[in-house]
Amino acid sequence: MAEPILVARAITKRFGGTVALRGVTLEVYPGQVHAIVGENGAGKSTLMKILSGAITDYEGQIIIRGRPVRFSGTRDAEQHGISIIYQELNLVDDLSASANIFLGRELRKPFGLLDDAAMNHRTAQLFERLGAEIEPETAVRHLRVGDQQLVEIAKALNLDAAILIMDEPTSALSEAEVQKLFRVIRELKDHGVAVLYISHKMDEVFSIADRITVLRDGQLVRTVPRAETTPQQVVSWMVGRDIEAVSMVHRSGDGDVLLEVEELTLPVPRANGSPWVADVSFQLRRGEILGVAGLLGAGRTELLEAIFGATEVPPTGTIRLSGRPVQIRSVQDAIQLGIAFVSEDRKRYGLFPEMTVRENITLVALREVAAAGVVRRTAELALVERATDELNIKHAGPEAPITSLSGGNQQKCILARWLLTRPRLLLLDEPTRGIDVGAKAEIYVLMDRLAARGLGIVMTSSELPELLAVCDRILVLCEGRKTAEFTREEATEEKIMAAATNILSPT
Ligand SMILES: Nc1ncnc2c1ncn2[C@@H]1O[C@H](COP(=O)(O)OP(=O)(O)OP(=O)(O)O)[C@@H](O)[C@H]1O
Ligand SMILES: [Mg+2]
Repeated sequence: MAEPILVARAITKRFGGTVALRGVTLEVYPGQVHAIVGENGAGKSTLMKILSGAITDYEGQIIIRGRPVRFSGTRDAEQHGISIIYQELNLVDDLSASANIFLGRELRKPFGLLDDAAMNHRTAQLFERLGAEIEPETAVRHLRVGDQQLVEIAKALNLDAAILIMDEPTSALSEAEVQKLFRVIRELKDHGVAVLYISHKMDEVFSIADRITVLRDGQLVRTVPRAETTPQQVVSWMVGRDIEAVSMVHRSGDGDVLLEVEELTLPVPRANGSPWVADVSFQLRRGEILGVAGLLGAGRTELLEAIFGATEVPPTGTIRLSGRPVQIRSVQDAIQLGIAFVSEDRKRYGLFPEMTVRENITLVALREVAAAGVVRRTAELALVERATDELNIKHAGPEAPITSLSGGNQQKCILARWLLTRPRLLLLDEPTRGIDVGAKAEIYVLMDRLAARGLGIVMTSSELPELLAVCDRILVLCEGRKTAEFTREEATEEKIMAAATNILSPT
């Protein structure tokens, strides 16, 4: 075997009382994809931040091409050929896609003027390579999470790094985008690039990785060649036990109709002039879980946002709740009507980074614990404790800053927040994004329980196996239109993909 390009030796990292990494040793080889897996909070991102110079105080040693190094920061790591795509996207909202990609390394013309044309051209090339349909000059603020993720990936590719770290690069991408990314990764491998790849998706890990490292509670469990292991084995190393497949209770769907959506249209035009959501009609019964499938940009998020009153332009069409037509003009209206929405974009809508775990969880439900406008602290803490227990949220106490939690545990806090509002209709946009396999199973069980109590749930997911396992019915969108609706008995991955790309499905 070739010499390792990077060795991390006995890395230990403490955050106050939390030991995030304990003596972890890792060897990374050129031309290989090395997957790092582990439960939420296992220490994956922390290790990657150390390797990319984002965290500089740690114990242990990093060796690159045989030489010990100590990075002073991310720029220093980049100069050593390491670039990283962060789990929590790291773009400047007000700048264009192209400006983000060249931030701090702008191309200039003679006399120092910015060479926008050259940067836009190069950006367009990167996007083409990724199969991304993004205008280089669009402000990142106007891009959906999936597209923002593609911008992050393009930014890292632009550095021509020898070691590329990807921390959950596909969490907001749909199947088709993932395949494009994998083509690019294989190309990079052929050019000798070492790729460190973090993912909770075992199918991805097993299709792209050459070697797999498992972390548990900050410790290295083992590193194995992919060819010598199985997904089941890796998962059991991750969680330290075997995980049973979740069996969902499938409901007969004879509850009362809870939500009726008729010809819902979001009159915001796409590039081709058609509206973002166009004439979508469906029904949801109490106790039912309805899935919404579609490619990136199909209008899944927009459909949920339109129902939740969270769009800038109000939708047209009719929404009825328990048979009564309702006007949902704002998020407040939606909450009053008993609707809860867990957004896929936790950085933008979900998380309050300056606040604690407690505040983030009880933010919307405070009415429940407030008597005459005074928050009863003990009641509030009891709520937080119940929620963090129920969802198994790993945290250092209710007063810990939310940003000290790992990505997956932050996601669980947002879910906890909305469950505390006791909704009758729950809208979940990519609820298991960034959540580990074990915790996913817990969330499915929770959804099952909520449905059994009579809630109606609408969820989106870019993982078809998840929709097929969890939903009673699946609706498919393509460019804002509903192109199919399947019962769980009828639905297959092939039929959903065909409807999502609007190819007439074989019957
Ligand atoms: N800035 C911080 N301050 C305090 N604790 C932190 C900080 N960053 C991480 N931690 C803690 O370190 C541990 C490892 O976190 P890390 O983010 O590396 O997990 P992860 O494996 O990436 O999880 P996920 O799959 O959820 O992204 C967790 O217990 C986390 O709460
Ligand atoms: Mg992480």
